[in-house]
Amino acid sequence: MTAASSMFDLISEQDEQRPYFDTGGRGRSHEFYTGQEQYQREMERIYGRHWLPVDHVSRFKEKGSYATLTIGTGSVLIIHGDDGIQAYHNYCRHRGYRLVEEATGKRQSLVCIYHCWVYDRNGKLKSFNGTYFDHFFDKEKNGLLPVRTEIRFGVVFITFSEDAPDLDVSLGEFGEFARVYELENLQCVQAKDYPVACNWKLVAHNVNESLHFPTAHKDLHRITDFDDAGTYELKGDNIIGAWQVIRESFNSVSMTGRSTRDPMPLVPEADRRKINWITILPNLLFGFTADYVFMQWVWPESPGTCYVRHFWLFHPNETAKKDFSHEAVFALWDKANYEDWELCERTHRGLSNPRWTPGQLSLDEEVVSQIDAWVAQETADPAETEA
Ligand code: FES
Ligand SMILES: [Fe+2]
Repeated sequence: MTAASSMFDLISEQDEQRPYFDTGGRGRSHEFYTGQEQYQREMERIYGRHWLPVDHVSRFKEKGSYATLTIGTGSVLIIHGDDGIQAYHNYCRHRGYRLVEEATGKRQSLVCIYHCWVYDRNGKLKSFNGTYFDHFFDKEKNGLLPVRTEIRFGVVFITFSEDAPDLDVSLGEFGEFARVYELENLQCVQAKDYPVACNWKLVAHNVNESLHFPTAHKDLHRITDFDDAGTYELKGDNIIGAWQVIRESFNSVSMTGRSTRDPMPLVPEADRRKINWITILPNLLFGFTADYVFMQWVWPESPGTCYVRHFWLFHPNETAKKDFSHEAVFALWDKANYEDWELCERTHRGLSNPRWTPGQLSLDEEVVSQIDAWVAQETADPAETEA
C-alpha cells in the first residue's frame, strides 16, 4: 500500500513555469487535419513505427480467446496461444482472405473458409486443402505472420516496426498511474466501437480537454469541475496527461454521480475524487478514477474517418460482488460519446475549408497543443526537424 497522499507525490516535480503559460498554443493547418499526404505520413511514421497499445489482458483470459483490430486499411488478430498473448496479421497466407471478421471470440483453431487452410491458436498452419509438392511447399513457413507483441501493466502493445522506439522509455511515468490503479488486475466489463466521420486527431483533441464540458455534456459537467483541473508534465516520450476534480457531493463519474463501490485500495486520498486523464500517444486515453478506469482509443481509417474503441474496467473485488452493475457509468459515457462525435464531425467539416486559419488555444487546451506538436514532430522530414 502506498503512503502517498496524491499522485503528485509519485511523479516527478511539476514545473509551473512552462512556456505554454506565456504563449498559449495555436491550431494547425487545413492540410494537417484533413490532408491525404499528412495522413499517409502518420500511418507510416506513427502507426507504422511506434509501439501501439491495442488491448487489455482481461479480454484474453482463456487460451484461444481473440480480438481483432483494424488499423488504417490493415487488420490484426490478437490471440491467447500456448505461449501467451500474440498478435498476427489477420489474413490467410494462401490468397489473403481476411481470416477473422468477428470483433472477439474464442477458438482453438482458425479456419479460412475460402479454401480451408487451418491454423492453430499459435498461428501454425495445421492442415490445408489442395495438392502441393513437398519440394516447394513448407508448412512451417506458411503460418500466420506474427506482429511484435509486448505486455506492460496489463496493456497489450504491438509494433509493425523492427526499430520502434523503446517501449519503456516511451511509457515513462505512465507506470505510476498503472500501478496505483492496478491496471493489470482490472476487468474489462464492456467494450464498444463508435464510427466517427472525422480525422482521428480531432477525436484525440476532444477527449483530452474539458473546456467543452459545460456546453456539450450537461451530465458530465454536473459531476466534474472543469475549473478545478490542470495539466501534468510527465516523463515519458509518448505520455501526456491532465487531472480534473469530481465535485464535492459526488464520488463517481456516472449518471447518478454516486457509487457504492469501494474506492480502489491503492489510490491516494487526494485522488479519490480526481480523474487522472493520461494519454499514451498516439491514440489511447485513460480515465483513471478511484471507482473505475476507462480506456478509449481512436483508430484512423482514412483522413476523414476513424473509429473509437471504448473499454470500461473495474476492480475484481467489485466485479465479483453479486450486485455489481456498471450501468450508470456506461450510460453517462455512451451519451457523452455521441455528443462528442457530433462535435468532432462538425469540426472536421469546418476544417475541410481550405481557407481555414488556425485559431488561438486557451490555457485549458495545453494537451491539444501537445498532441499536435508530437504528431508534427513525428511526421516531419528529417530536414524540417533539424531546421
Ligand atoms: S485464401 Fe485462405 S485457404 Fe485460400
Ligand atoms: Fe467530450
